[in-house]
Amino acid sequence: MKQVDLRLAEAAAIRAAAAAGGVVQKMRGMPLDIGTKAHPTDLVTTADREAESAIRQMLADQFPDIPVAGEESGGHIPDAGPCWVVDPLDGTGNYVAGLPFYCASVALIWDGRPVVAAICAPEQEEMFSASAGAGARVNGQPIRVAAGSDLTRLVVAARPSLNRNTGRVDNLVECAALASASLGVRSLGTSALELGWVACGRLGAFYHPRLCPWDVAAGALLVVEAGGCVTRADGSGVKWTSGQALVASNGATHAELLARVGCE
Ligand code: IPD
Ligand code: CA
Ligand code: CA
Repeated sequence: MKQVDLRLAEAAAIRAAAAAGGVVQKMRGMPLDIGTKAHPTDLVTTADREAESAIRQMLADQFPDIPVAGEESGGHIPDAGPCWVVDPLDGTGNYVAGLPFYCASVALIWDGRPVVAAICAPEQEEMFSASAGAGARVNGQPIRVAAGSDLTRLVVAARPSLNRNTGRVDNLVECAALASASLGVRSLGTSALELGWVACGRLGAFYHPRLCPWDVAAGALLVVEAGGCVTRADGSGVKWTSGQALVASNGATHAELLARVGCE
């Protein structure tokens, strides 16, 4: 597989994410066919499916040799070589409820690590993007993570999350520890967008006990390119081809965050 120009790939990711954002905005407020997947709260709508088709079509037109793995139509993320990893609508629960926090997320993973990212947040009219070594941007303007190592001055996104094996939310202790240590905890219901907000400094950090690659591949690159840090909850490196617990931060608070949430 020949190399691709990462800035060209970033431009393509932006166009694909914008197309998906356009689809979900057009369908907002229309009667939606709402179904469930692995769990009664794991929703999928016609907007998710149509947005993923729009992304796949745009990427296939420009990069016919690069496979696409997406939340709704599946696909394998290889350890070697390139693969687009897409979440056409991250925050489906918010979208269905009429909450304005959701986005479309497109990442290019190469040899198991994200190298290009685009996240379209249509309600805020914001397009986050990044490519490896070239920084992160929102609507084309460079962004940086929040300054400072004092967590009591930073808002942290943390998700109480259902363990599907036990049917219980099993990380309330970790969320409470973060609430005690920080300016406050928020749970926005869209991991990709929360990572974008860490990258641009609105949030100081993000913690989630279980996420899939399409939820976080683009957002994690944004955070790193904006000067932050992303690891698993035990501090080890993220494996982008499978699910895991994730901690993302402005870097200066990372050690304290890991101590608060403990090991996976
Ligand atoms: C969900 C969001 C949410 C996270 C869930 C994900 P979806 O993605 O990222 O923040 O807590 O675990 O499934 O289903 O809205 O694409
Ligand atoms: Ca998702
Ligand atoms: Ca989704």
